[in-house]
Amino acid sequence: MTHNLLFLPGDGIGPEVMREARRVLEWLGAKRGLKLTITEMLIGGASIDMHGVPLTDAVIAAAQNADVVFLGAVGGPKWAGVAHDKRPEAGLLGIRKALDLFANLRPAVIFDALLDASSLKPDIVRGLDIMIVRELVGGVYFGQPRGIEILPDGQKRGYNTQTYSTHEIQRVARVAFELARARRKALCSVDKANVMESSIVWRETVTELHQAEYADVTLSHMYVDNCAMQLCRAPKQFDVILTDNLFGDILSDEASMLTGSIGMLPSASLGAEINGKRAALYEPIHGSAPDIAGKGIANPLAAILCVEMWLRTSRRDLAAADLLAKAVAQVLQNGARTADIATSGQKALTTQEVGDAVLKALEN
Ligand code: IPM
Ligand code: MG
Repeated sequence: MTHNLLFLPGDGIGPEVMREARRVLEWLGAKRGLKLTITEMLIGGASIDMHGVPLTDAVIAAAQNADVVFLGAVGGPKWAGVAHDKRPEAGLLGIRKALDLFANLRPAVIFDALLDASSLKPDIVRGLDIMIVRELVGGVYFGQPRGIEILPDGQKRGYNTQTYSTHEIQRVARVAFELARARRKALCSVDKANVMESSIVWRETVTELHQAEYADVTLSHMYVDNCAMQLCRAPKQFDVILTDNLFGDILSDEASMLTGSIGMLPSASLGAEINGKRAALYEPIHGSAPDIAGKGIANPLAAILCVEMWLRTSRRDLAAADLLAKAVAQVLQNGARTADIATSGQKALTTQEVGDAVLKALEN
């Protein structure tokens, strides 16, 4: 079986880190018989420059036909002036929506070799392994009505709508319960049910699903403000966190920083399984990092670990995934690091040198 991969490197450091992920895929093709074809297209600012829009119909069609999409990052100061609905980020939101990628899996895992990079004390984060499941195509990001209006007295009024219906909650909660079941069997659902009606429906729906189908998983509920606090106080209490689009956006940035290395973390965005096929998009958690773009110093490991997450989550090729995970761990252990995670006194490597180191570790 040949896997059709769509590469959307995007903007900033996106193309630089994706190049290294591509080399790893090509190695897997040559050395482990993984059959793949890779097509590259534009998204975000790169697409605006070429086509005037951040996401073209051709890219949506290619993504729908591909077995998997790998995305780099979108956005940058260059496009600060473009209309709100045409900004680079609209391309990312657009492809999520077009593929109905409702479940966003964002792991926060600490690498032993990087314990000192965390802003928290080593004891608090050693062994940390959290999975955040963020609802990705609903809530206030997409809710209607939304807009900016001018009031009679000349003031502006901006408004958005937070909405969640039973089905939207159930399908993402199922993904989270299934993940928890295969891990430490603990799911914490995070909401703001003390204030918001959408959260009341969220909490009720998750509770009912738990009783009906997942009673073997321990379910707890937490308000989002408390969760933000608990993540810095005692993050190891969490196994899987399930939350909505906006809360998940915020909590996943916080959780990634516990690991000290936002440049290390991959993510998966998944759709529903239809005829044995599930739409999937993998992207690093980090953004386009315009400040270091073009310098060849960005950390390619999050992009490379996207390949690992794809092998594990979509392909279920655990042998290949483990091999790649081990290679990355070895590279870190050997101190082959880009500037963002290099320890003082250590020589920082370039993006490509770290890619080389991963390939060399794979060979061994
Ligand atoms: C993310 C990003 C996006 C989001 C932006 C770039 C639109 O912050 O993937 O977390 O808010 O979802
Ligand atoms: Mg975000």
